[in-house]
Amino acid sequence: MRVVALKEGADFDGWRQAARTLLLDEVPPEKVTWLVTGEASLLPDHDAPTAQASARPAPRIPAEFLGLMQSLICHSDPQRYGLAYRLLWRLTHGERQLLQLITDADVMRARNAEKNVRRDSHKMKAFVRFREVKAADGEPVGAFANNSVFIAWFEPSHYIVERVAPFFVRRFTGMRWSILTPYRSAHWDGETLSFSAGATKADAPSEDVLEDYWRTYYASIFNPARLKVQAMQSEMPVKYWKNLPEAQLIPSLIREARPRTLAMVEAEATTPKKRFAAPELRSAVVQPQGSLAELRAQARDCRGCALWQPATQTVFGEGPEHAQLMLVGEQPGDQEDLAGRPFIGPAGRLLDKALLEAGLDRKTLYVTNAVKHFKFTARNIFRQHQGANAEEQRACRPWLQAEIQRVRPKLILCLGATAASNLIAADFPLLAQRGQWHRWPDGTQLMATVHPSYLLRLKEPAARARETAAFVQDLRRVAEILTAA
Ligand code: URA
Repeated sequence: MRVVALKEGADFDGWRQAARTLLLDEVPPEKVTWLVTGEASLLPDHDAPTAQASARPAPRIPAEFLGLMQSLICHSDPQRYGLAYRLLWRLTHGERQLLQLITDADVMRARNAEKNVRRDSHKMKAFVRFREVKAADGEPVGAFANNSVFIAWFEPSHYIVERVAPFFVRRFTGMRWSILTPYRSAHWDGETLSFSAGATKADAPSEDVLEDYWRTYYASIFNPARLKVQAMQSEMPVKYWKNLPEAQLIPSLIREARPRTLAMVEAEATTPKKRFAAPELRSAVVQPQGSLAELRAQARDCRGCALWQPATQTVFGEGPEHAQLMLVGEQPGDQEDLAGRPFIGPAGRLLDKALLEAGLDRKTLYVTNAVKHFKFTARNIFRQHQGANAEEQRACRPWLQAEIQRVRPKLILCLGATAASNLIAADFPLLAQRGQWHRWPDGTQLMATVHPSYLLRLKEPAARARETAAFVQDLRRVAEILTAA
């Protein structure tokens, strides 16, 4: 048995070095025990690689894998190092495409860990609250305008301090600050970012004048008529409340929301602000004409409904002009809207992997959407997807019909209920009829399956694995018909 002792926290460099040695010595994952410092002192040192092994070239590792490992190792799972090495072993022992297997248990566990670490990092960026501490008289203040130091206390769920600290350096370059956490503390003195041991909550100040600013700000953006306690708690989970000054207000704001809303309903209407007149719709009836390239150009200026206005651009379909298979999604998302291409965001990445696993090459498919503009509501700095209504879908349908007429695919796969209700039947029962073939009079065959975003929304790993496998299975059935044709 080989024993590897690593530093507390996210010791990516230590893991990488040890994993390289173990790999060169051909030590399989089940023969390695991974420990973090502290436990290690009681155990023998781990071996150095043999001279023979050191002479062998290290295997090449894809950058995507290393990125995934960097996130995985920040996770608080005590078995993360073992999992990371097992994945590395498999990748270098005949499973080069391992990361594409989205239903593999190890890959899923690593991807979930990556997601949790990303979420925790996001929460840290959102919920760190600095408190001002005046440095003692006579203490050097360097380039700073005043002699303040800002200190924050934060309790991350994972080992993310080193990873997130550069964000605060960029954001608060002109301040001297420290972020204290139970396992590590980060310090910025205006020039250098450094790290020290963890701290306790008592090491951080408990109140300062900035608290009032937070509370005033929070109370003024709180809209009692739009109170959704569950959504609020998932955005700002209760575990962070104890360190957020504004969280003290939440119970009373919730309590008062209903009487305040009723009072708003009772109150006299105020005169709305004058708005600019909306530009006229150029044409409510869209009339696409010409080749696929010409359609794409015309669609750029479509004003068939009002969705063009807030959206960045029309996202038209793409793919070979005579693809045998057409995939139809719902509407572009945030990233598609910015890039002008369908399915390139998170749902698109999941789709690409599932296609690969089913033996379908995206480059040979035509991929489009039932609606060509992103519909959203603004939520803080985020744009949140909103389903297009029946009228917006109707206004967009001529584009989809024209795409189908030009491409003439043999098979159409509807991703989700919106596509299916536009192409198969208005009240298409997706869950009852997914995976079944339908046929148009001209011979085109259609099938509907779930939308990849549905899979992304499944939080429970077992349910996500099961549904993803069923999705890949639907794609395989499409692939089979294509190869048989
Ligand atoms: N979801 C869709 O339905 N289409 C896209 O292009 C992206 C996400």
